[in-house]
Amino acid sequence: MKDRQNIHGSWASRWVFIMAATGSAVGLGNIWKFPYIAGENGGGAFVLVYLVCILAVGVPIMMAEVLVGRRGRQSPINSMREVAMEADHSPKWALVGWIGALAGFLIFSFYSVVAGWVLAYVAAMANGDFLEIGSEQAGQVFNQLLSDPQTLLIWHSVFVVLVMAVLMGGVNKGLERATKIMMPALFVLLLLLLGYSMSSGSFGEGLDFLFHFDPSELSWNAVLVALGHSFFTLSLGMGSIMAYGSYMPKSASIGSTVLTIAALDTVVALVAGMAIFPIVFANSLDPAAGPGLMFITLPVAFGHMPGGQVFGFLFFVLVGLAAWTSAISLMEPGVAWMVERFGLKRAPVCIMLGIVVWLLGIGALSSFNFGSDIALFGLNIFDFLDFITANIFLPLGGLFVALFAGWILNQRITQNELAIAVPSVYKAWSVMIRYVAPLAVAAIFIFNLIDKLG
Ligand code: TRP
Repeated sequence: MKDRQNIHGSWASRWVFIMAATGSAVGLGNIWKFPYIAGENGGGAFVLVYLVCILAVGVPIMMAEVLVGRRGRQSPINSMREVAMEADHSPKWALVGWIGALAGFLIFSFYSVVAGWVLAYVAAMANGDFLEIGSEQAGQVFNQLLSDPQTLLIWHSVFVVLVMAVLMGGVNKGLERATKIMMPALFVLLLLLLGYSMSSGSFGEGLDFLFHFDPSELSWNAVLVALGHSFFTLSLGMGSIMAYGSYMPKSASIGSTVLTIAALDTVVALVAGMAIFPIVFANSLDPAAGPGLMFITLPVAFGHMPGGQVFGFLFFVLVGLAAWTSAISLMEPGVAWMVERFGLKRAPVCIMLGIVVWLLGIGALSSFNFGSDIALFGLNIFDFLDFITANIFLPLGGLFVALFAGWILNQRITQNELAIAVPSVYKAWSVMIRYVAPLAVAAIFIFNLIDKLG
């Protein structure tokens, strides 16, 4: 079959795809969420389960997303339709793309609010607001930020504009260019911070906490958290990776490329943990502080360390860059579809969609102040958006992609795209995508629903 051309463009090389997909995967999930859920779920034992989930579930599903995207060479919605029809199945599979694009908007609207906090902290660090501050005061600074809708709105708006500006540039002049600048910067900053933490933190204690394996600390709940997070951290289940895969050169091998991306994402999460916990321990702070770990605990630590102001500033710049490259990928499926469907240029599409997510984001940020009374199924707007995306949209999207690649597409198509030379490796992928991944994802789905609704 002749390779289809993508009207949006394609990555200059396999490495650009790896960097872009890693940019999508590495985000708030790695630097903010991973350290604190590892802290809450027993450190080392949790980390081990998380690694198994990445390999057994994350990698096969990511391969499936890239495969479908590259075969279809269009937005996830149209790629799903096209590839389903190629396999003589119903064009209604496009619905999976629709659910994904919608999920991207919903995730974006609260992701942008958290990214806004990060930007506010970049400014606060530059200003020296946390010098010599105590834990209680740091908590007050954070709560004050949350209770001030105007400030939140400003930073949320700045973030929406930053993301839309890159998307407007298109695949090559926007996404690719931003990736090539931001990803190396991100890795340099991360190594710099690791060095700082090694020299001024309690490095041994931090390492021990992250990698000390004690199976008795592992609960069934921790397994589910690890499984759910392996999904979120790899950007699976809503089409981000499928969209990026549609710009991938045909010559590149999907298996080894996806393994590289998953490895880089994992390394960043672990290094983020290795950079954060030693600083936490050196300052006798609580590693299980939860979501406040990054916004309350860490600034206190930076405020008391030599060079803390500079490194604290660099730390939040790093988190901001990571959030930026991830947020871009949340919107790309929707943007690409609008361009295909209506034949519009990227600029008007990005402005329109930017306004939509900006408005949704105002709903999310109001949860902490003027809208705190609004409750949807007992949750405020922010928590509701987080809940339905992480527990319903993403597992459902991942489940359908796995079923689609495993059961709907014939072997001719999957073999041809994956081009795996060793038959047993192809067989292993096939078993993972047909049985292991769907069952695991169904488990997250069902247990979370019972847990949260029951
Ligand atoms: N993976 C990103 C993070 O860890 C977030 C993200 C970007 C995402 N695109 C996604 C999560 C698609 C789920 C689906 O922060």
